[in-house]
Amino acid sequence: MNKVPVEIFESPEDAVAKLAAETAELIRENDAAERPTVLGLATGGTPIRYYQELIRLHNELDLSFANVITFNLDEYAGLPREHKESYWQFMHDNLFDHIDIKEENIHIPSGTVAEEDIPAHCEEYEQAIIDAGGIDQQILGIGRTGHIGFNEPGSPQDSLTRAIHLDSITREDAAPAFGGIENVPTSAITMGCGTILSARRLVLLAWGEAKASIVKEAVQGPISDQVSASFLQNHPNAVFYLDEAAASAL
Ligand code: PGA
Repeated sequence: MNKVPVEIFESPEDAVAKLAAETAELIRENDAAERPTVLGLATGGTPIRYYQELIRLHNELDLSFANVITFNLDEYAGLPREHKESYWQFMHDNLFDHIDIKEENIHIPSGTVAEEDIPAHCEEYEQAIIDAGGIDQQILGIGRTGHIGFNEPGSPQDSLTRAIHLDSITREDAAPAFGGIENVPTSAITMGCGTILSARRLVLLAWGEAKASIVKEAVQGPISDQVSASFLQNHPNAVFYLDEAAASAL
């Protein structure tokens, strides 16, 4: 019944151990071939354990990120980098400040470009991904709306990086961190579904029972722009890494 490969792990720790080992192998292979490694990264609660494991591999096994280039999925519109809920801040706190990545190799959409400059900013983001050789491995979470990145229901499969209005469910989920829904930005800049699907490998992570029903829709339901994670069914190298609770409705 699963229309996309699924791996179920006893715990999120087991899942991220496997994923981080895969990332480390990819980096080491590319380093040996003198090629950069291009990683697509995600924010939210889900990938934090993965970043902790990458930091451990850096500290304990000398895994170097000196030749790694990163592209993040998205950023809230209107938030400066130094805002505590900006994804720039999140990525530095949870990963970049703890590894040897070069600041110039980090790419995150800007939350503070003037509205009229957003289309050009998004085009530059797409071009930077192309110039880096495309994304080798893209990590994804899944929102309760089925979004990947901030591709809310209605996002076309071939959409590219752009500004998007955030769904009210997404804003509700972010409300505690912002101290109330009235403080949550109403829009964001996100890689599009087409941008994400261009990555050579996609790994969607989900933990906990609250994700079980939307995971089932994405994995077993029809491919639909109402659940942008369902587009992974069309990708030749996509996988869902789930803990038992997130897989419980499959
Ligand atoms: P979460 O968010 O990791 O905080 O659950 C996932 C998402 O909205 O993509």
